[in-house]
Amino acid sequence: MDRQQLEEGARKILLTNLRKGVADWNGKDFSFVVPSLRGYPFQWFWDSCFHAIALTHLDLEQAKAELTTLMSAALPNGFIPHIIFWEMDKQPDFLSRNIVGMTSPNYSSTMQPPIIAYAVERVYQATGDEAFKEMALPILVRFYRWLRENRDPDNDGLIAVIQPEEAGTDCSPKYDEALGLEELSNQGFIAALNKVYAAYDPMRGDDRRILAADIFHFEDVLVNSIYAFGLRALVRLLGDAPEAQEFSREADKTLQALVSKCWDEEAGAFFDLAGVAENPVKVVTISSLMPLILDDLPRPIVERLVDRWVTSTEDFWLPYPIPSVPASNPKFIPGPPRGFIWRGPSWINTNWFLSHALRRQGYEELADTIVAKSHECIEKSGFREYYNPYTAEGLGASDFGWSTLILDM
Ligand code: GLC
Repeated sequence: MDRQQLEEGARKILLTNLRKGVADWNGKDFSFVVPSLRGYPFQWFWDSCFHAIALTHLDLEQAKAELTTLMSAALPNGFIPHIIFWEMDKQPDFLSRNIVGMTSPNYSSTMQPPIIAYAVERVYQATGDEAFKEMALPILVRFYRWLRENRDPDNDGLIAVIQPEEAGTDCSPKYDEALGLEELSNQGFIAALNKVYAAYDPMRGDDRRILAADIFHFEDVLVNSIYAFGLRALVRLLGDAPEAQEFSREADKTLQALVSKCWDEEAGAFFDLAGVAENPVKVVTISSLMPLILDDLPRPIVERLVDRWVTSTEDFWLPYPIPSVPASNPKFIPGPPRGFIWRGPSWINTNWFLSHALRRQGYEELADTIVAKSHECIEKSGFREYYNPYTAEGLGASDFGWSTLILDM
């Protein structure tokens, strides 16, 4: 597949998955790409950010519309939901098969990795549209403030998630213990999540209270790497505006906390912190590598991560890297997971993050290999949700939106 064929394939998916209309519940116009027509027929937060980045290569107006739609769902307090049900009738039984924390029937009350400022920056760079940037900035400022004020109760610069799907890596084995998973399957995960939500019921919508209750409280490395990455983009977008300093300080604080609290020198990896007590969860997953996206990560840490984990053929450097869990983990599942996702296969969004990160950190060859192998996965199996890291077999949803990120790799 050459560039043109890739673009054609991507365009077809992004157009087929495009939804436009006026929402009957708030009267707002929407125009965005669903992750997949069958499995995920609504708007998802970080998917939308990835779609917008891919769209900068195909259709600038649609790239703006994607993010404008997402930002139009921001609440007055700054919060932006992780799923927005613009058209509930697209799959009315979705809520009976998935567990979604809600305070409104039209959107979730949970977050997803805060990549949005970077997506806005990319769309602004591609279009030069000042009005778009001016529209976006106050919404972004409120959103990142909301995160700091509601998700960092110990004020250490690390924000916490209240359930695994907020980190976008739903069933990752790193959450098994905190969730008290009794059965290693998607059903087991749903049952555990149900218990978490039952406990949240009396405090629904009050995230500070939920975090204080310490039921599921994770300072997640992937989320915080993306938080700092997003904050840095916000600072660049703000330029000379007075808020720039506030967010620049916050980004520095997050990076410092990742290094001082989550880095494990002996393991050579970053670990999430569970609970108010901040117990390190010593399970290496794709998250453990994510601080590589921060350009000023101390050099010895970068080298250690790459030498010990990224390039280890027993761990992450498989024929089609980078798997979501290293092959050395006994819970690694490379093949069809039956909904028990993020436990082995390789995903294009994390490959997008890490190929760019490795390139910026000076590892051109590794970056090139990840790009070439991602391309091969798509060539062999189409734009799928994720791929078997040994065979490139396509798995999960078909015609999956964010796999079009290949255009940006
Ligand atoms: C799955 C993924 C999540 C993604 C969503 C929609 O839940 O784990 O990261 O946002 O699907 O594609």
